[in-house]
Amino acid sequence: MHELARQVRFSVNPFLPEQSEGANSFASMPSGEGLAIFFELSVELAGEIDHATGFVVNVAEIDSKVRQHAVPVFISKVKENFCMAEHISLFTVTEILHLSWNQLEGIFVPARLNKLSLKLNPFRKIMICSEDSDMVFFSEKFEFAATHKLWNNDFTDVQNRKIFGKCANPTGHGHNYVVEVTVKMPVSGKDFSIGDFEKIVDSELISLIDHKNLNLDIEYFKSVIATVENIAVFAWEKLVKKFPASAKGGLHCVTVWETDKTSCSYYGC
Ligand code: NI
Repeated sequence: MHELARQVRFSVNPFLPEQSEGANSFASMPSGEGLAIFFELSVELAGEIDHATGFVVNVAEIDSKVRQHAVPVFISKVKENFCMAEHISLFTVTEILHLSWNQLEGIFVPARLNKLSLKLNPFRKIMICSEDSDMVFFSEKFEFAATHKLWNNDFTDVQNRKIFGKCANPTGHGHNYVVEVTVKMPVSGKDFSIGDFEKIVDSELISLIDHKNLNLDIEYFKSVIATVENIAVFAWEKLVKKFPASAKGGLHCVTVWETDKTSCSYYGC
């Protein structure tokens, strides 16, 4: 089984009676004219490789079908909300994703639609999936800078340097970390506030670790090695108190990137 993901980007101007088509630009089919709303819809399909083509599904077919079946849903719902001067809430965005899902489900057979996610800005996304279809997943990335040193006092200096390499530098070293926090909630949930969510992540996590020496300033890391794996666990333990994980939703996942090349996701177990 393979999971193939494709991003389809487009722009919608809610005030135009007809959307104009551009060429193969960044997000130009439709092109939006003037100040338009830019969308990035990510489609994940699960399936087996077709041995004649080497594809799960030809990405040109994904683009074409998404533009034919899902983009009109976005155009129509966005225009409808603008015409009625109605706020497009996360609930409405989820509704648009579900309507798009209904349009796309079953048209990539034998591959099946696995996930549909929409980027709300470069750091935020909202996602629905086949596995947990009653839930919607909201993710946001946050940045923090910190110093750490990878060291185990039970090892000799030689062992520490051999295992942790440059990361065992006695005075530490820094990273610009990124942490992505994903919460899930029932699709009918209307009371989620991005602003409140961000304030909680900031007060419960980011403010504790940003511009800090993790080994010296954070009690937890005096007995736990501050690897990206353990930072993900630390972040989970801080945040799950505010977003208790249950069947009804709450904290779903924490992913920490130490560099572009190294990240770790933790789901609480
Ligand atoms: Ni490091």
